[in-house]
Amino acid sequence: MKTALVTGASSGIGRELAIRLDSLGFRVILCARRADRLEELASELENEAIVITADLSDREECRRLYEKTKNMNVSVLVNNAGFGGIGDFEKTDLDRELKMLDVNCAAVHILTKLFLKDFLEKDRGYILNVASSAGLMPGGPLMASYYASKAYVVSLTRSVSEELRAKGTRVSISALCPGPVKTEFNDVAGCDFSIEGIPADYCAEEALKGLFSRRTIIVPGGQMKAGVLGSKLAPSRITLKTAMKLQRAKLREE
Ligand SMILES: NC(=O)c1ccc[n+]([C@@H]2O[C@H](COP(=O)([O-])OP(=O)(O)OC[C@H]3O[C@@H](n4cnc5c(N)ncnc54)[C@H](OP(=O)(O)O)[C@@H]3O)[C@@H](O)[C@H]2O)c1
Repeated sequence: MKTALVTGASSGIGRELAIRLDSLGFRVILCARRADRLEELASELENEAIVITADLSDREECRRLYEKTKNMNVSVLVNNAGFGGIGDFEKTDLDRELKMLDVNCAAVHILTKLFLKDFLEKDRGYILNVASSAGLMPGGPLMASYYASKAYVVSLTRSVSEELRAKGTRVSISALCPGPVKTEFNDVAGCDFSIEGIPADYCAEEALKGLFSRRTIIVPGGQMKAGVLGSKLAPSRITLKTAMKLQRAKLREE
């Protein structure tokens, strides 16, 4: 049976991606830390789903996830698990940020590399790395580590995508780069959006359309597409200043 592995499936964008992949006939392997959420979602899906709990900030757990799933006929890998944080770089917590880099970058890197080798052997497979429009910007003052982590995902995905194109393989890799999406992201990051977020189910729908049409960079929604274009045309200094204003508006009152 065609199978998709979705990390961060217990909430938000990952949950919606899992629901859509299930409705497209995929058996979905649901991964995150909260087992109760994953079990509940599994019970709602049409096809029999598999639940695997893992803390992806731990590199050994990333490898274990691969070992457990490598013979399950996975042809779609969705690296979605991730989180953010807000505040002056000087003041934000180093240990939390290192965990963020582990989940947002190292886990994506490890799973992409391990599955890509298998996909290339079979000459089939899709990898969707959930980055952010933050990763397309020159930087994000007051969310410096988060923006940097997503720039890593965008850069890695673009480079690997070009390597795949040169190989002429049917394997493809995409980076999903949404702007604000209504999920639990804000509660985890400790902030509020300064602009209205798009619904997570719409984001997931656009993501899969882009993935299956082999688009390297997927930006859901007209407003965000315009925002990304504007940031490319404007001098970086102006974009950074605007980003700082937007982040400041996100800060919650102490
Ligand atoms: N919402 C937005 O505005 C937005 C915009 C652009 C990009 N994104 C990106 O979209 C992705 C999904 O975020 P979301 O908005 O859907 O937020 P969310 O509702 O908070 O979901 C985050 C998911 O990541 C999982 N996760 C976090 N840390 C983990 C860990 N150590 N190990 C395993 N799983 C972990 C969470 O599961 P458990 O807590 O159960 O482990 C949860 O399922 C993230 O990569 C985020 O950066 C979000």
